[in-house]
Amino acid sequence: MGEYKIVVTRKIPDESLDIMKKYGELYIWPEEEIAMPYERLKEEVCNAHALYTNVGDKIDRELLESAPHLKVISTMAVGFDNIDMEYARERGIAVGHTPSVLNETTADLAFTLLMAAGRRIVEGADYIKEEKWKSWGPMLLTGQDIYGARLGIIGMGRIGEGVARRALGFNMDVVYYNRNQKPHIEEEIGITYCELTDLLQTSDFIVLLAPGSEETRHMIGTEQFQLMKKSAVFINVSRGTNVDEQALYKALKEGGIWAAGLDVFEEEPISASHPLLSLPNVTAVPHIGSASIATRKKMAMMAAENLVAGIQGEKLPFEVQA
Ligand code: DGY
Repeated sequence: MGEYKIVVTRKIPDESLDIMKKYGELYIWPEEEIAMPYERLKEEVCNAHALYTNVGDKIDRELLESAPHLKVISTMAVGFDNIDMEYARERGIAVGHTPSVLNETTADLAFTLLMAAGRRIVEGADYIKEEKWKSWGPMLLTGQDIYGARLGIIGMGRIGEGVARRALGFNMDVVYYNRNQKPHIEEEIGITYCELTDLLQTSDFIVLLAPGSEETRHMIGTEQFQLMKKSAVFINVSRGTNVDEQALYKALKEGGIWAAGLDVFEEEPISASHPLLSLPNVTAVPHIGSASIATRKKMAMMAAENLVAGIQGEKLPFEVQA
């Protein structure tokens, strides 16, 4: 057993625990679906050298201040908006994450939500289960065409590229908005850059993929929903904080937009009594963008490798570049 203390805030696959075991004493929160309470985590990190975390933990300054020996934070996620990066940097704590490996899996989920919301799949399934189906109806549960529609992607990273490639298979007209225009991607996959206002006004489907940060907080709100078509289907697989949920609720309820597919929420877990979930035109899933068995196992391993490197003072294989 090594000399370090490693705190792991969720039950994770055994293979990833195995590679950390020989570097120290492991404290593992035994639950998979119940987050380690903040106060409990604060107690546990006070003598820890390494922290294995995920998007559901708040790793703020207060928590880090109670962890004076911490050398590395490794998150089993690509996003790190739950970590106070500025303070971690100031303290010289290395931060690792799991980029790239989840791109295609998350693009799959984005496209799944796009199709499910556009074609009212969950509503249709519930309709049958609730014994509402009486006969074939000419306009029963009619949705929006996906084939040939215009898709606007906000945020053109690797996941955006993956969504675009899928959409091109459906003969969609794909436009994107990104902080920096990406001519090489436009050329390589055949998509077009579009100013945000234009994208919002002309797209039939809009997929939001911008990273979560103070800068992107509520980047889609009342003004942006008002620009969208009344038939627009809005998908968010990025961060819940990027969207003003009250504005989204109003737009969906009052027919400002047609439907939404949501994987992420301002507050997670979202309460079952949240007004958004009362709307039939919302398809909601619990932050499962990267949740394929294979991808989650790879993410767990990558995060373990980051942690092991950091605890030994080596360069992390996947260090956050922020
Ligand atoms: C991430 O990796 O940031 C996702 O939101 C969780 O997989």
